[in-house]
Amino acid sequence: MFVTSKELLEKARAERYGVGAFNVINMESAQALFDAAQKERSPFICQITETTLKYTRPEELVAIVKVLSERCTVPHALHLDHGRTFETVMQFLRLGMTSVMIDGSLQKDGKTPRTYEENIEVTRKVVEAARAIGVTVEGEIGRLGQVATGKEDILTDPDEAETFLKDTGVDLLAIAIGTKHGVFKGKPFIAHDRIREIRKRIPTILVMHGGTGVPDEDVQQGIKEGISKINIDTEMRIAFYNSIFATVDEMKKEFEQADKKGDVRSYDVRKMLTPAREAMTAAICGRMRIFASSGKA
Ligand code: 13P
Repeated sequence: MFVTSKELLEKARAERYGVGAFNVINMESAQALFDAAQKERSPFICQITETTLKYTRPEELVAIVKVLSERCTVPHALHLDHGRTFETVMQFLRLGMTSVMIDGSLQKDGKTPRTYEENIEVTRKVVEAARAIGVTVEGEIGRLGQVATGKEDILTDPDEAETFLKDTGVDLLAIAIGTKHGVFKGKPFIAHDRIREIRKRIPTILVMHGGTGVPDEDVQQGIKEGISKINIDTEMRIAFYNSIFATVDEMKKEFEQADKKGDVRSYDVRKMLTPAREAMTAAICGRMRIFASSGKA
């Protein structure tokens, strides 16, 4: 059964570990996540992004996740990642999310920044609706992106974070601290002083987006400084890609040998997907250990 992410994260904050929020896009990634969590006895957040709609209907994916959830014996939440509009958040709430993000920092296109006032307006609306049915809300302030030392203008401003929290009442706050979605160019610079400053000013649960490629020691330090939810997506994709590449190479050799011998080729997509799913499971287990959530269920 799904619990709210607030419930998971408050426990994590009190006990000083991080909870991974992992993106799923299909049956294999969802199975990999639930398998990893069972193996590690780790609480987790299963998240679905609005952009998944371009690939599958959300109800199809949620149906798979719900079946996995029924058998799962560790605490977990179902979260909408980066909802861009009030309407999308409502659509996902109907599907049974126990936690939603309204990313009011960007407009519907996911690129153009919203003004602070526009962010407040849409976030408030979502908080009002979600709170009425006991669902956790994550908001975002600042712009995610890689920064070099000294170029910190896109980081979350602690004053603005404080005002944003008062103006919206979100349960979780995604902050810009030098991380970005996807892989980093070179070594990332994580603004730890900014995390500490924000933590001092606001009591709410803090979220690190763009967890892929953030060095383990930075993640662990971030958790000590007040981050409780860490989003991971690309790392799962990388594990999947690498496994598929290796399997394709092997399969090409098998096909060549079959051709040479005059045998027929054997086509079985599961030969690719099974190791790829296992590779994703291993990647997730690794993250859970780094976040120290393993064994906390
Ligand atoms: P990565 O793809 O960099 O892991 O980021 C995931 C994320 O922040 C999803 O919201």
